[in-house]
Amino acid sequence: MERTIGVLGAMAEEIDEVKALLTNKTVVKIANREFVVGKINGIACVVAFSKWGKVAATITATLLIQEFGVTDLFFIGTAGALADGLKVGDIVISKRLVQHDLDARPIISRFELPLLNRIYVNSDPGLTELAGKAVTNLLSRGVEHMVGEEAVKEFGLNPTLYFGDIASGDQFINSDEKRNEILSFLPDVLCVEMEGAAVAQVCLEFGTPFTVIRTISDSADHNARVDFGKFVVEVANAYSRAIISEIMRML
Ligand code: ADE
Repeated sequence: MERTIGVLGAMAEEIDEVKALLTNKTVVKIANREFVVGKINGIACVVAFSKWGKVAATITATLLIQEFGVTDLFFIGTAGALADGLKVGDIVISKRLVQHDLDARPIISRFELPLLNRIYVNSDPGLTELAGKAVTNLLSRGVEHMVGEEAVKEFGLNPTLYFGDIASGDQFINSDEKRNEILSFLPDVLCVEMEGAAVAQVCLEFGTPFTVIRTISDSADHNARVDFGKFVVEVANAYSRAIISEIMRML
């Protein structure tokens, strides 16, 4: 079967950079969303802005699979750091996704996905490894090739790649209290965002392989909002474009 690669991004600006990679483009609008259909390196590809939060991302991911027949899905975006040692500019690729705000106790245990008998959804090992190789290739050439010397200096970028757990919830985490609360229950989580685990659940139900690639934009504490806006414009857009471009080259 021919592959159709889906790429979802959490920020409009970031995904605009990815849309620019497509050739033979057509734009399809459904449910206030724009799906750009085309090819990258001769491979069929559909790119869309997920919109923010779990419900919005669920709608977009479902449409990608059901309306566009996407066979493999990459989610790309930014995240707040939870684990000690993670710094702005680092990249986290998902092994497992969890919804940190899901709680149907006492019917089932905290964080458990109703009727799915699990807390975590695993990302696809093959896509996760591929995304890891793509990021490793890019970093071996030097981060300045992705974002330019100026951004490297301004943000002190010296990125490390991590693989691990990502937590999602319908909250922008920007206080030590919220950050520590999540960590107290989910100590292995590396970073926090607002869509990945929802997309993971959609992909689990449809049997679609997926992985999530997140760049650390902030520290998910009282500084989070300040770091975030600037970082997206100056760094995350360029990372997304470079990473998706490298993945498509390796497919
Ligand atoms: N995406 C980027 N930073 C985030 C944060 N601190 N909380 C939730 N989602 C994010």
